[in-house]
Amino acid sequence: MVLTTSLLLLLGLALLAPGLSADQPQCVLTGNWTNDLGSNMTIGKLSSNGEFAGTYITAVTTTKKEIKASPLVGTQHNNTQPTFGFTVNWNFTDSTTVFTGQCFVDEHGKETLKTMWLLRSHVDSIKDDWKATMVGTNNFTRLHTHLE
Ligand code: BTN
Repeated sequence: MVLTTSLLLLLGLALLAPGLSADQPQCVLTGNWTNDLGSNMTIGKLSSNGEFAGTYITAVTTTKKEIKASPLVGTQHNNTQPTFGFTVNWNFTDSTTVFTGQCFVDEHGKETLKTMWLLRSHVDSIKDDWKATMVGTNNFTRLHTHLE
């Protein structure tokens, strides 16, 4: 009897512990997102092994070139607040950005992608390698379209 009560107590505590709640909502990467710079991205459906593809429209650029929608590919873990990574292969210039982050969902169901990125610019000489990489952070929130 005492053992059963203790086991039930332990089970209850485990379920109530933050991050272990059985009904923690799923943070989903698929959809439309906007970040603190005003950039927008769309992430498509996840494959069975956690791979995804999408499109990124940056609001800013280090170049004087016309911004175009560029492809992204990435992977995520399979849990309720997954970590992920994706690469944007800019198609209007010869730079590349990698993002890594985690998808969080709060008690109201609001999702946020907390990310860090590395932007590698093309340089003509190895002598310029030292100035070729920028680092930063972006926070993304879901863009709700009127169709939903
Ligand atoms: C370039 O200028 O070389 C290509 C576009 C880079 C845009 C960067 S990627 C990191 C940061 N977050 C954004 O949404 N845009 C900028």
